[in-house]
Amino acid sequence: VSPHPVATPGFRYDAGRLACAGVDLSRLADALGTPCYVYDAEGVRGRYRSLTGALAPLAPLVRYAVKANPNLAVVRLLSGLGAGMDVVSLGELERAWLGGAAMGDICFAGVAKGDAELRAALDGRHSPLLHERRLTRGRDVAARGPIGLINAESASEIERVDAIARELGVVANATIRLNPGVSAGANDKVRVGEGASKFGLPPEDVLALARRCGELPGVRFRGLHMHLGSQIADLARLDEALGAVVELADRLDAAGRPVDVLNVGAGVAVSYMGEPAPSDAAWAETLARRLGPRVEGGATVMVEPGRELVAQAGVLLTRVRHVKRAGTRTIVTTDAGLNALVRPAMYGAAHMVWPAVCPPDAAPDPIAPPDGRGLARADVVGPVCESSDVFARDRPIPPVERGDVLAVFTAGAYGMSMAMTFNDLPMPAEVMVDAGVARVVREPQGYADLLAPTALGLAGGREIGGL
Ligand code: LLP
Repeated sequence: VSPHPVATPGFRYDAGRLACAGVDLSRLADALGTPCYVYDAEGVRGRYRSLTGALAPLAPLVRYAVKANPNLAVVRLLSGLGAGMDVVSLGELERAWLGGAAMGDICFAGVAKGDAELRAALDGRHSPLLHERRLTRGRDVAARGPIGLINAESASEIERVDAIARELGVVANATIRLNPGVSAGANDKVRVGEGASKFGLPPEDVLALARRCGELPGVRFRGLHMHLGSQIADLARLDEALGAVVELADRLDAAGRPVDVLNVGAGVAVSYMGEPAPSDAAWAETLARRLGPRVEGGATVMVEPGRELVAQAGVLLTRVRHVKRAGTRTIVTTDAGLNALVRPAMYGAAHMVWPAVCPPDAAPDPIAPPDGRGLARADVVGPVCESSDVFARDRPIPPVERGDVLAVFTAGAYGMSMAMTFNDLPMPAEVMVDAGVARVVREPQGYADLLAPTALGLAGGREIGGL
């Protein structure tokens, strides 16, 4: 069996040179500098079309999980295709809105939403962007309506939603998040559906809270939210969790709390190293088997895919700083590390790493890790002072030297959104390639930008009055 591709078809090696929609990525790196992320716009469109096509029989509302890749060009592209947005903070909510999503098409998840976040979600006059014309570009943030849905996770939160909604004179639509008591996901850091996780509530508590909503004039109970976890490769686990959702929905109906929204969370796993991953069709089938009857009864299904839409549509470009011989090992050091892409260090995640220019016979087509026969092995490591700052350990890779550009594949999701400036490394740039044209969609962070907020420390600091 040939390995599964790990990049969208827009990424291709042409005569040994990696290109995105015809744009040569080694030359792009020369022009802009590294590290930088490159996104394939057509690849994102293709993923969105494939997913919505497969799910069409359920006519779901798609809510893109902004956390996967919050770049405004990505949000704008997906909202232009008709996606709503799933957000987990006020920052993400503002991005979703700036990127063109209607407030009614945004849902807001998270275990610890703050009052200020809820206020801005329910009434644009409380948006932090109220006077930020540079960002809002003439759109009237004050006039925007309340958010489509709040995915609530606790009784305490529902009471706050009710109080704030009444204070603002609106009614907040809410789903309640069920913890399905099913364990699934690539590693313990992304497994959220098991009983002991901080997310959601067990069925009895959801029932009690749905009943309580009936006494709160500021809240309208709409249904259930369930997110089993991210990078779900085993659809049997998802099926089990959906079973718990449907069973609870039946009990809520019987209790006079009809469920008209069934939000079933994330998309499925993607292939990072050529391993098989569930197809959109298989995912759709799993959903349809459990939720089909409810949809026929008039319920609305909602999905919140992030990774699936953008992971394979992005690469991280980084430049080789040194090739170091250490005993029998070869260590390739690069200018990007866990500061730019934390997944390998944080989750032990594997990403394919390959030179952007290589001998034509070493160029994988489609892009998937080759078996590496005949290649020497090397470690590819970042500049950060952490022993976990390793992109690839003892991997076959064509020979590289100082100055070469490497591509880290399948980096479009949870790459830039988790980047940090540890070790005082500036944030990478982001580029979107569309129809053969490469455009910077986030400037590389300069050292002045990186250091400016800290200048207070030299100037004696700013005193906090009234303490
Ligand atoms: N909905 C909810 C409520 C979520 O918490 C998440 C992801 C999603 C949807 C989207 O999941 P996706 O379709 O992208 O799998 N940083 C980790 C992944 C964390 C996911 C957190 N929640 C990683 O890089 O693997």
